[in-house]
Parts: sequence; C-alpha cells; structure tokens
Amino acid sequence: MRRKIVAGNWKMNKDLQQGMNLVEEVLSLSSPEDVLKIFAAPFIHITSAIEKVKGKNDYAVAAQNCHHLECGAYTGEVSAEMISSAGAGYVIIGHSERRNYFNETTSVLTQKVNIALANNLIPIFCVGENLEHRNANQHLEIVRQQLKEALYHLSAADFSRLIIAYEPVWAIGTGVTATSHQAQGMHNFIRSEINKKYGKEISENTSVLYGGSCNAENAKELFSCLDVDGGLVGGASLKAADFVAIANSF
Ligand code: PGA
Repeated sequence: MRRKIVAGNWKMNKDLQQGMNLVEEVLSLSSPEDVLKIFAAPFIHITSAIEKVKGKNDYAVAAQNCHHLECGAYTGEVSAEMISSAGAGYVIIGHSERRNYFNETTSVLTQKVNIALANNLIPIFCVGENLEHRNANQHLEIVRQQLKEALYHLSAADFSRLIIAYEPVWAIGTGVTATSHQAQGMHNFIRSEINKKYGKEISENTSVLYGGSCNAENAKELFSCLDVDGGLVGGASLKAADFVAIANSF
C-alpha cells in the first residue's frame, strides 16, 4: 500500500525560531496518523526539527537538496551523508527551481539520487513540464524523459524506495493549480510508465505527490484523484493551519 504524504517545502523561508514555531504549531494541531507529514526545511533547521518530531511516526524531516558527490572541496555544499547523519530521512531532488536557477542537469540529478539512496535518504524526485510544453501538448513526453533519464538506471529495489512529485512548472508559486483532471491524467501516466519499467507491484506502491499551488482550498479535490497520493506544498506549508488543513484533505 502506498503512503499518503503531505510534504511542506519551505524553500528559503523562515529563520530558525520561526521555523521551529511552525513545526510546533503543526504538531499541536490534529491530523490523520496515516498521513505522513514531512517538513522539508532549510539545512540549518534540520537538526532542531528532528528533535521536535522524534518518536512520532507520522512526521519526518527532509532536506531540500544535497550535493551529488560524497565529500570534498566544495565550499558551501552539504552532502547526503551529512543530512542523513543529522537524522533526516528524505531529500527533495530535481525541483524545477534547482533545475532552472542552479542549472542542475539530468546527469547531476542522477548522481544525487544515487548518493541519497546510498546514504539511506529517500529522494522525493520532482518532474514536471513548463507552460510551453503543456501548450504544445508535449507534457507527457517531457515527464517520460525526465523519469527515464534520471531514474531508470535504478534497480527495482532502489526505485521502490522513491517518492515521485509531479510539479507542473506553470503551477509552482503562481496560484494556478492543475485541475484535478490534469493532475489525475499525469499521475496515471506516471504510474503506467513505472508499471512498464518496473512492474505493477512497484507502480502501485509508489507514492506520487502533486505540487504547484496546492492549498487548503483545492487539496481535497486533488487528493480525491485515484493516482494522487498527496502533495508537495510550497507557499501553503508556511502557515501551520493551512498545512494541517491540507493534511486533513484526504
Ligand atoms: P507552491 O510550491 O506550492 O508554492 O506552488 C510548490 C513547490 O515548489 O514545491
């Protein structure tokens, strides 16, 4: 059975105190235990966030990025091993902001996925088309390529550890959400592609999250789609009440 997940991607927001207040507030509000709530916090918040969720099976902490190499002279970078040793269990890889603003290529993303898995981090791997591709009806092909190029070298055992997030670039931070029809169409496509490559069992057990202007108002409709297993939430994860309302939207 695939897991229901709501992951809050804070991006570069909240100082340490504000971030910990947010975690505490989320913890104080009730949400279903069968929904995994993940805080994808900035690196320097991770240790403190881990302390707060310790012993709670339905909460976890993620990094928003990791370096693609093991260690070495890369000033300012953070390795998968460091993240794992701090106690985080997840890492976002392939977010369109990393692809676009930091020029992360497929070959770098592949290495990030490998090094994350080698260090027992579960990658939340993001795919998604931009508006041009969507308008040209190329969205399925783009996402097929993104999956294939970055992930299909993985063994079935490794692939089965991943979480996939479908984030249409045109929906991220824009207030324009994919319709439930668009989301279900793509999520179903992703699952069928995984089925083709890794078989039914793995495709049925892979959580595929939707991201892109997901909020407390539209989450219910999105999460009611058969192949939408939750959300990767940016802006709306910065307010505890909204984030928890989204977690309550299944
Ligand atoms: P958004 O961001 O919810 O603010 O659109 C989602 C994301 O980038 O993960």
